[in-house]
Order: sequence, then structure tokens, then C-alpha cells
Amino acid sequence: MENNLFAQHAAMVDKHLEAIFEKITQTPEQLKKAMLYSITAGGKRIRPALMLEIYRVCGGDPADILSFACAVEMIHTYSLIHDDLPCMDNDDMRRGKPSNHIAFGESTALLAGDALLTLAFETATDLPASIDAVRALRAIQMLGHAAGMCGMVGGQVLDLDSEHKKISLDELAKIQSGKTVAMIRVNAQIACVLADASPKVTDLCCNYCEYLGRAFQIVDDILDVTGDAKQFGKPIGSDEKSDKNTYVTLLGLPGAQQMADTLTNQAVACARALPGGEQLAALAEQLGHRSF
Ligand code: IPE
Ligand code: IPE
Ligand code: MG
Ligand code: MG
Ligand code: MG
Repeated sequence: MENNLFAQHAAMVDKHLEAIFEKITQTPEQLKKAMLYSITAGGKRIRPALMLEIYRVCGGDPADILSFACAVEMIHTYSLIHDDLPCMDNDDMRRGKPSNHIAFGESTALLAGDALLTLAFETATDLPASIDAVRALRAIQMLGHAAGMCGMVGGQVLDLDSEHKKISLDELAKIQSGKTVAMIRVNAQIACVLADASPKVTDLCCNYCEYLGRAFQIVDDILDVTGDAKQFGKPIGSDEKSDKNTYVTLLGLPGAQQMADTLTNQAVACARALPGGEQLAALAEQLGHRSF
């Protein structure tokens, strides 16, 4: 990302992920290769960078919660590997490379996803002594909740179930809230609980992520129609191919863009109300107008 501080957070996450994988030796080579293939394929690292930046805004040192940030990126990456499988969106390109199942086969891709999910929880517990253990437990619970049946996995089920159907705007909001917003919002929840932030700051950070997350998926839906596959790193027209419901199919391109803009402005307003939230505001603006 152009945003300097976020680029720094993303670089810290990349380095920490690398170090985690370097230490792993007792696993089948093919499995580790498949996991590394997707984790190092060039994701934007938005989720972990958000967690680190929110923790910084709350007065903490981002380096202290790197393992949590990496855990979120592992869960996100697993969700993408599974999302691309033939039984789900059936997409053959991800992060500018052949999807995991194209490169390694379906069973290895499935298991690489499973292993990333479980490694995430193992990783999240690896915290410095400065982090309060009870707070860390609450954060791990939040992570499980956001990733699972009430969050991302639940949203993915609703997303697949709504293919070839007409649904309402409220139903679409519920799908996107699960499949995308949950794993974006949880970064604010985790950063705030670990930093012992005040209820007011916690609300602002969570609302910021809620608005940003909703805008993020709408822009993703727009780019699925108008984007450039090379820049986007994944196939264009995937949603149409699967007959998905998106903000573009329900509101049209201008309506979807307008909604993304409104949500982006709401995210920016939350960030501006936070002392030290300028970088968060700038990130929301950038993501609202991204082409990748
Ligand atoms: C893709 O997320 C899935 C959506 C929720 C739209 P990202 O756009 O953050 O994907 P990467 O991590 O940069 O590849
Ligand atoms: C999926 O949304 C979000 C998750 C992977 C949980 P999409 O199916 O729109 O994501 P992309 O476009 O394949 O990245
Ligand atoms: Mg999908
Ligand atoms: Mg998909
Ligand atoms: Mg998409």
C-alpha cells in the first residue's frame, strides 16, 4: 500500500510469518510448501496491519502482538484457499498465481487450509509476558467467534446458499457481514481488548472496521466486474459465473459505488474521532478507491 505506516506493519507481518514457518520442521514437506505458497503469494495484509495500527493508536507497541496479527492472516489465507475450491467459487487464480488447488491438488489445498487454521490458534498463544494472559484468552475467543459459524464460515455458507436466488439487500448485508466484515472487525476487537482500551475508543475502532469492512467487500464486488485480472490478482467475472448476489447485481455499478463511498466516509469519520487515527482515516480512503 502507498500508506507508509501500513507498509511498515505489513512488512513486519511478512517477516514474522517467515520466521514462524522457518521454525516448522516436523510436517510433510508438501503440506508446508502448499501453506507457504499461499501465505507468501502477496496478500495485501490489510487485516493484520489494521490490528497493529489500532493497537498503536491505543498506545501499545505493535511488535508485542505480531503473533495475533499473523494468526489473523493465516485464517484469512485459509479462507481464500477454501473459497477458491471447485466446491465453492471454483476460481483458478489467487494473489496473481494459480490457486492453491491448481498448484497442489484439491486434497492438499483443503488440508493446507485446515493446517493454516489450526496453526493460527497455536500461533496466537505465543505472546510476550507483557500481554495479560486473561486478555489474550478473551482475544482468542473473539478470533474463534469471528472465524467460525457465527462469522466467516457462517457467511460463506449463506453466500453459497444464495447462488441462483433473488435475495434482499438486508440478506446480502448479512452474508457480507459474516463472510468479510467479521474477520476485519475482529482486528479492532482484539487490538482493543489487548490494549485495555476504553469502551469509547473500542466502539470507535470497531465501528471504523465495520464500515471499512462493508465498503471493502462492496469494492471487491465492483472490481469483480470492472477490475483488471492482473492488478486484482484473481479472475474477473467470478461472481457472475457463479450467479452470486452482490451489491452490483442488486444496486447496479453506480449504486454500489455510492454505497461504498458512504460507508468509506463513515469509516473515515470514526477514524478522525480517534486521537492519532489519521493513518486509519487515510487507509479507509485508499481502500475505498483501490483497483486491487
Ligand atoms: C479477499 O480479501 C477476500 C475478500 C474479503 C474480498 P483481500 O482483498 O484482503 O485479499 P488479499 O489478502 O489481499 O489477497
Ligand atoms: C469471500 O468473498 C470472502 C472470503 C474468502 C471469506 P469472495 O468470494 O468475493 O472473495 P474473492 O473475490 O474470491 O477474493
Ligand atoms: Mg466466495
Ligand atoms: Mg471467491
Ligand atoms: Mg469477490
